Amino acid sequence: MRKVCIVGASGKLGQYMVQHALDRGYEVVGVCRERSVPKLAAFADRITIVPGHTNDREVIREAVAGCDGVLTVLAPWGVQQYSSGTAQAVLDYADPDARLVFSCGWHISRDGQDQYSWWFKAGVRVTTWLARLVRAVEVDDQVEACRRIFASDRRWTVVRGSDLEEGESQGLPVWSRHVGDPILASNRTRRVDFALFMVEALTDDTLIHEAPAIVGRLSPSPLAHA
Ligand SMILES: NC(=O)c1ccc[n+]([C@@H]2O[C@H](COP(=O)([O-])OP(=O)(O)OC[C@H]3O[C@@H](n4cnc5c(N)ncnc54)[C@H](OP(=O)(O)O)[C@@H]3O)[C@@H](O)[C@H]2O)c1
Repeated sequence: MRKVCIVGASGKLGQYMVQHALDRGYEVVGVCRERSVPKLAAFADRITIVPGHTNDREVIREAVAGCDGVLTVLAPWGVQQYSSGTAQAVLDYADPDARLVFSCGWHISRDGQDQYSWWFKAGVRVTTWLARLVRAVEVDDQVEACRRIFASDRRWTVVRGSDLEEGESQGLPVWSRHVGDPILASNRTRRVDFALFMVEALTDDTLIHEAPAIVGRLSPSPLAHA
């Protein structure tokens, strides 16, 4: 891995990914909204920033050119196919052999075999409904984005994050193919470690065409299964 593009670099997850990528000596290109460029000031002399909306196909075409890895934060903002537009542009324009790693939450299911608790399902339903009402978030569009990724023959991984918290790294999260697996029960991952898993996935070919659901390795459920 030599050069990686981080789509959504100015967000909390994105900034952690920038740091992990720089720590590995990768050349980094970051995409973020024009107004968010100052959030990357600490990295400004070490990365190339391509300002623009992540669902702007020309912005993505320019940013991913020559990158052997693309890390994409799928965020369901607004009601203009933000997530699916972003994912589609990455799928269309990334170099043919590039490793593509996308972020989302546990609510995305690849094969319908995830087992969700009733309160998790109720939470997703309420969030989706409220979000549609205020037209700020379009959860269904993140589902559509992932449907397109799963159907693609690109070298993708979709990392499904549990509930997140801040704090020092605990190391690489543990993963399972299906939500509902007891090892994931803690439903808690440090954001810095979500980013670590995304960056490590770039060079882990066993994760190609997988949608790992992750949990913090020092949270109670993985420790109970150790
Ligand atoms: N939050 C959680 O508890 C949780 C749980 C599980 C999984 N996840 C997943 O983790 C990933 C990161 O989530 P996060 O909550 O930690 O957020 P985050 O890292 O802060 O990322 C949010 C992203 O959305 C962008 N954004 C914010 N408002 C926007 C708008 N109105 N229009 C366009 N872009 C906008 C941000 O860009 P700017 O810097 O330009 O604002 C940033 O790139 C996502 O894939 C999410 O599905 C989150």
